Amino acid sequence: MNATKKKRKKSLNSSPSSASLSELDATQLPAHLAIIMDGNGRWAKKRLLNRIMGHERGSDTVRTIVRTCREIGIRYLTLYAFSTENWQRPKTEVEALMTLLKKFLKSEKSEMLQNDIRLRVIGQIHRLPSGVRKALEETMTATRDNSSMDLILALSYGGRAEIVDMVQAVADKARQGRIDPQAINAEMIADHLYTREIPDPDILIRTSGEMRISNFLLWQIAYSEIFITPTLWPDFNKDELVQILNDFQGRERRFGKV
Ligand code: IPE
Ligand code: IPE
Ligand code: MG
Repeated sequence: MNATKKKRKKSLNSSPSSASLSELDATQLPAHLAIIMDGNGRWAKKRLLNRIMGHERGSDTVRTIVRTCREIGIRYLTLYAFSTENWQRPKTEVEALMTLLKKFLKSEKSEMLQNDIRLRVIGQIHRLPSGVRKALEETMTATRDNSSMDLILALSYGGRAEIVDMVQAVADKARQGRIDPQAINAEMIADHLYTREIPDPDILIRTSGEMRISNFLLWQIAYSEIFITPTLWPDFNKDELVQILNDFQGRERRFGKV
């Protein structure tokens, strides 16, 4: 039985890699994987294509990676899709990204329902165009009772803006006398972030090789294991993700202890 099972799983991997899905320890999977999906523009530039083409190919990678995480059994997947700073890109690029996002939300709704995936969003949602907000609301409402996996899109997201919003909310409660400033602790802060009720990421991946955080989940990544790969996001695939999960399982997480 084992042999057939192994063979079947192996054949799912399209290209050879040093780690396969069946080698992962199912008891040591990360609960939360967060990804800074970077490199769409460079992927396009290398091929003398428009940056938008890179974003289109990038959205295909999103589909593959969501599917793979569901298959592996990752409970929470957060994808950094658009930052508060990305609003400063040329209007045509921002519009193309918003159109792609709307298309993605509409086309993936049925698959999310079929695969028991709940869609959530973090960020300054009020800044998104109404068409995108509507598509988001629809898919979030339709999938709200799904519980096998949470797909969390970081949209118009900035870690500093999130912290500012949290401080305002906490300060407001203190002013109203609903909380004692001396009682403010890390748990209370976490409860006022966009990510309340979501565990901190165990793994943070950034594609395209940049060694920076770019305002992503500043509070939550305190003890995340970081993986930076030179692969551009449109080229990122299942094999590389499995390889990262395999490396993660070999890391010793100490959380400041000995
Ligand atoms: C990531 O790819 C997607 C978004 C930030 C929306 P980029 O568009 O940043 O690609 P590069 O970094 O220019 O290659
Ligand atoms: C980070 O990528 C934001 C997203 C992936 C959505 P950027 O391309 O915007 O980051 P910088 O400009 O390289 O720091
Ligand atoms: Mg970039």
